This record gives sequence, C-alpha cells and structure tokens, in this order.
Amino acid sequence: RAAGDPAITQIQPWMQELGDGVDVAPYGQPSEHESHVIRRTVEWLTADPVSSINFTPLHELDGIITPNGLCFERHHGGAAHVDPAEHRLMINGLVDTQLVFTMEDLMRFPRENHVYFLECAANSGMEWRGAQLNGCQFTHGMIHNVMYTGVPLRLLLNEAGVKTEGKWILPEGADASGMTRSIPMEKALDDCLVAFKMNGEALRVEQGYPLRLVVPGWEGNMWIKWLRRIEVGDEPWHHREETSKYTDLFADGRARRFTWEMDAKSVITSPSPQAPITHGPGPLVIKGLAWSGRGTIPRVDVTIDGGKTWQQARMSGPSLDKSMHAFYLDINWDGRPLYLQSRAHDSTGYVQPTKEALREIRGVNSIYHNNGIQTWYVNEQGVAENVEVS
Ligand code: MTE
Ligand code: CO
Repeated sequence: RAAGDPAITQIQPWMQELGDGVDVAPYGQPSEHESHVIRRTVEWLTADPVSSINFTPLHELDGIITPNGLCFERHHGGAAHVDPAEHRLMINGLVDTQLVFTMEDLMRFPRENHVYFLECAANSGMEWRGAQLNGCQFTHGMIHNVMYTGVPLRLLLNEAGVKTEGKWILPEGADASGMTRSIPMEKALDDCLVAFKMNGEALRVEQGYPLRLVVPGWEGNMWIKWLRRIEVGDEPWHHREETSKYTDLFADGRARRFTWEMDAKSVITSPSPQAPITHGPGPLVIKGLAWSGRGTIPRVDVTIDGGKTWQQARMSGPSLDKSMHAFYLDINWDGRPLYLQSRAHDSTGYVQPTKEALREIRGVNSIYHNNGIQTWYVNEQGVAENVEVS
C-alpha cells in the first residue's frame, strides 16, 4: 500500500463510536459486507421454484464445513414446515414389532457425530455435453459438508427387530413430494444415521427439520428429509426416484440403475469464474475441494497448463471418511494464461477421470454422476471461464 493510505492514516467511523451491544443480534448473522455469499439458482434450469435447486457458493468458502445457511437446497415439493411436537417416525413392514417414535423418544437413543458430504447425483449434470455453467457454484455447488448428530439407524431397526426376509428399507419424507427410495439393508445397518442436528444446531427447515436420513457417501436423493416412515421389505420398490429418475442412460439406450456411491471428484474453487484473480501476477493461492463416497482423499494433483504437467496439492484440515477435503496449491503466477484442473485420488486407489474418458463409457445422454475433471481457463487479466481442453 502507498504511504499515506487513508485506511491507515485516518480514523475510521467504527473507531469513533461504540459498537453494538451484545443482544443486537440474538441469532448472529454474517457481516453486511458478506451479503454476496449466498445460495444462488439458475433460473432456466427448473420450471418452478417449489421443485427446484439452488447451489452452495463453494468459491466463497474455505475449510471443509458448509455453514448451515449456505447448504444448497433441493426440494421436489417445496420445503415442509414440520412441527416437531406433531412429528413421528414409524418403522413398519417386515419387523417383529412395528414402532412409532416421537422426537423425544429418539433423543433417548445413543447418538453419534459424523462429518459427511451430501452430493446430489445431478451435480455437474449440465456439463455432459460440454462446458456450460460459468462458476463452480453452478457446476459443482449441489454439495454440502456438514457435521451431523443422529441416532444410528441400526439401533432403531434393532429395536423393531428386522425379520430374516427384511433385505431392503424404504424411507419416506413428510413433505408434499412424499419422497421415497429403496436402500439395501446392509447399508441401513452399516453407517446410516437418523439425524436431528447439523453443525451443532437443529436441522434447518430446508435440510429436513426435524429429522433426516443420512446415507454416507451415497447420492443425495437417498438422504430423505422430513423423515416420517421407514418400511422394511424383501425387495426394492422401484419407485419413481430409482427408475424414471436417478438412473444413468447410456449411449445405446440402456439405463443403469442403483448407482448409489458417489465416485471421487474435485474442483478448484478459486480462481474460478466467480472468483477471478484481481491482484495481478505474483503469489497466488489456488484452492479447491475433493471428496469420495468410498473413503478419504489422500492426494489431489493440480495442473496449471491443462494437464501437460501436474503438481501434488497440499491437503489441509482433517481427512475424514466420506467428507470433503480441502486442498491448496501456492504458486507464483507469471501472469500468463492458466488452464487449471484438479484430479482427486481416493483411498481405494481410484483416480478421478477426464470428461472424455467418462463420455467414452457413458455417452452424453446422462444427467447424473458426472465426476469428470473440471477445467477453468484464466486469462492474463485473471478472468476465469468454464472450458474443456482435449
Ligand atoms: N427428501 C424429501 N423428503 N424431499 C425431497 O425433495 N430431495 C432429495 C434429498 N431428500 C428431497 C429429499 C435430493 S434430490 C437431494 S440432492 C437432497 O435431499 C438435497 O438435500 P439438501 O436440500 O439438504 O441439499
Ligand atoms: Co438430488
């Protein structure tokens, strides 16, 4: 900064008067200078805001936790306002004893805390036929990463006593869409949670208050919000969300079903189209996020030349199973154009594929499960754009 910078030499208004008292904001809000850090929609994407989606502003965030007010929303029948006193969770079907729990009943079961990402299977779905949306909020923002507090589903199912023929569960939401999905019993008994807290406080209305199912590592659609009922059955139900939707249409016209696990994926969140370089050449922090539905992310590679040469990024923060991971690459930018990409390696040894490699197998009819490598072109002015390189 130049000598005589008024930010240094002049006494600022906020130094000349007393600040707010402690109770001005009984529930705290971000600084007024952060009002651009919000969820955003893509207007043409859906016909109606009630069955729609908005996106997490990944380019504005750091670390691995998504603040509750910024978690993207996906509702098929709007966000239901449920009174917890009138809310019940029923377990029925192939069980020894059909049970109905109040919220108070659920609070008496042992609970656990876990950080998990939730990614909608449609995340990056608009990019199958080529680069389309200009910003990682829109290309990758159907994801959030939250610490959940909840009761292991296993404990509730054990309480009801699953019959030997009980091989599947069908969780159901209390919203107008009455969302249901078939989930194999193995997963239900493994790591699923019936969650009532996110990042320490009650679930937000948008995220399924007062109860949501957490299905670690699996596609977001299965994480039933406003959870009211779990039916136990001997086979999958083949409902709308696992036949007409959330199946992967291949080039030959056949569709693949039950692609539950989210494959390893990563994205550079800054620089990116909504987060251009404004400071010119010199030290540049490249930051990004990576995740895998199959485990952790021990390594992310970053290229600044469109894949000709790769450098290993610096992982930062906790490495938790089925959680987002933060990575950085600190470079000295020479001011020349950049073709930025990141490539995640997960703990199973799987490496994130290029979009070309994905299209070779999947064709371009798909909507869901696009985990291909993202490219940002950054010009000499630092302006970034969504592109593809071959
Ligand atoms: N559960 C109910 N009851 N109703 C819904 O519309 N949407 C699903 C899932 N669970 C949905 C639901 C979809 S498609 C996704 S991607 C996630 O919730 C989104 O969770 P979020 O709104 O917390 O981001
Ligand atoms: Co979804």
